[in-house]
Amino acid sequence: MEKEKNIEIHETAFLTSTLRSLNEDLSQDYFAKLWRNPKSDIWIEKYLDRVSSEEINIHCLRNRYFLDTIKKLVDDNNVEVLINFGCGFSMYPFLLDERLVHIEIDKPEIIDYKKSKLTDWQNSDTLPKRNIHFIAVDFSEDYKHDLLTQIFSIKNNKPCFILIEGVLFFLDREETDKLFDFFDTIQKPGDFIGSVSFQDTLKESLAFRKLLDLLNQIVSNTKESDYQTIEDDYYRSQPAYQLIDHQDYFSLSAKYGNVIKLNKEEILNENFYLLKKSN
Ligand SMILES: C[S@@+](CC[C@H](N)C(=O)[O-])C[C@H]1O[C@@H](n2cnc3c(N)ncnc32)[C@H](O)[C@@H]1O
Repeated sequence: MEKEKNIEIHETAFLTSTLRSLNEDLSQDYFAKLWRNPKSDIWIEKYLDRVSSEEINIHCLRNRYFLDTIKKLVDDNNVEVLINFGCGFSMYPFLLDERLVHIEIDKPEIIDYKKSKLTDWQNSDTLPKRNIHFIAVDFSEDYKHDLLTQIFSIKNNKPCFILIEGVLFFLDREETDKLFDFFDTIQKPGDFIGSVSFQDTLKESLAFRKLLDLLNQIVSNTKESDYQTIEDDYYRSQPAYQLIDHQDYFSLSAKYGNVIKLNKEEILNENFYLLKKSN
């Protein structure tokens, strides 16, 4: 089949933001729409049609779950810094208490563009002013020493929440292990990680086959093993962390009153994990 116009991995960030903007009541992300553009609107239409129309509410509930979780931890004075690994165009800084310090980390293409747009929008009062630090890093490269220095110079010993959502699918297991070791190095007991991944069984579903077909056409020649899935045990066996909450699209739909329209086979069911550092 002839290739359609390609999309880069980092451009998936536009698609995620667009999805969040399509049901604001559910996502409670009132700024995601700022990132919309004609190219991503066309992709979204294809994506919803060819992969799964349930993707809108999955992405909205993912945002809502982490937004509510972090809000509560901030209100209870358990978190002062939010570090978003593979932040894309998510808009948590503007949806959370203004006292929070933000560290936004992603590939240089995303960070340069996000920094410039957020600066413009804050200067024109389209967005409220927030304390945001941007760091460009590729998780496939050797980042440990420099990133450690930069993060410590910003957060000192303040309690932090690390968020990694919509990213692990694109990384391999070695890169993931390296990141979780890194999280352990920068966090103190009582700090949190919020992580999103798909379970192995996803690869047996009709929705995944449809996703792979589409990715094959639009990203490059891709195969099943290019996309990582993660079992619950990966989180349960992190030596320094305790798994304190685990949700998925079905449990969050029940919690937030979302009516699911498609059957299980047609849904890319994301899993949401909350870990707390114990030692
Ligand atoms: C689907 S987007 C999700 C963005 C954001 N976390 C969200 O939920 O809105 C995936 C993000 O992961 C980032 N990413 C993927 N591979 C990466 C890597 N090797 N290093 C740094 N960032 C990466 C992409 O640039 C992109 O912003």
